Amino acid sequence: MATIQWFPGHMAKARREATEKLKLVDVVIEMVDARIPESSRNPIIEEIKGQKKQLILLNKVDLADPSQTKRWNDYFTSQGIKVLTTEAKDGKGIKQVKAAIKELMAPVFEKNLEKGIRPRPIRLMVLGIPNVGKSTFINRMINKNQAETANRPGVTKGQRWLKIGNDFELLDTPGILWPKFESEEVGNKLALTGAIKDALLHMDDIALFALSQFKLDYPEYLKKAYRLIDSDLELSNVDLLMLITKNLGFKEDYEKASERIVFDIRSGKLGRYTLDQAPVSLTEEA
Ligand code: G4P
Repeated sequence: MATIQWFPGHMAKARREATEKLKLVDVVIEMVDARIPESSRNPIIEEIKGQKKQLILLNKVDLADPSQTKRWNDYFTSQGIKVLTTEAKDGKGIKQVKAAIKELMAPVFEKNLEKGIRPRPIRLMVLGIPNVGKSTFINRMINKNQAETANRPGVTKGQRWLKIGNDFELLDTPGILWPKFESEEVGNKLALTGAIKDALLHMDDIALFALSQFKLDYPEYLKKAYRLIDSDLELSNVDLLMLITKNLGFKEDYEKASERIVFDIRSGKLGRYTLDQAPVSLTEEA
């Protein structure tokens, strides 16, 4: 998707549009990147979602470190938030998402039934920052025979509902929120995972950030991919980048090497990784 430069005007518009869409739905599906479950969240969601039921999806789990994904799962659960993992690209986890949404809405429908109100399709929207996999997920949720429902009064022109069986209706366009810009570290994490494609950062800065993170958390990945030995990992990040540049056969072209490192990490070629450490959950503490 095209990268948007998020000026204050764009943010206000995105917020307004997301808030409008939220009014129409029963459940908001917040999608985050499982490699950066904290950095790929936009805190505004908490504010605008009000009393709406919420489901967090940790998407791209195929790229994330499984032990960290488990900890993030436990963490969100301990916060009373329903969370599931998905691989939207391969359609994994979609069935579970549908089941979880029904479960979330069951008490509401039971209450309605008592009042004589019959159940109706559950209305959904997907919300999140760019590139977390929202469109891919929407495409997976609908099947080929999906039909559009009629325009509903009050719905923004051009906004359509996608019917998913008899149980769900999904807004065809996701709510898009801006990525967090709160610190250089968060910016680097977003850039490294591809969430901000043309970040105002240079590839070599992102590569140096990647080396500093992977030296600590995933040193074996670096050793294997770039033919390094233990003592190489004690070099400064800049010296390590120069050594990798040489090992890749790029002579002194560290920019080319930086691009390669970032590409390798983004595509998961080095291995599965998570850049945000899960907070210790209440259950773990206990
Ligand atoms: P968005 O609407 O939130 O902006 O995201 P979108 O669906 O466009 O997905 C962004 C990128 O993430 C796409 O890759 C998509 O294929 C990929 N993606 C979505 N879900 C998953 C997943 O579960 N695992 C992995 N590994 N990737 C996922 P792209 O590079 O833009 O295109 P392509 O690789 O599909 O060609």
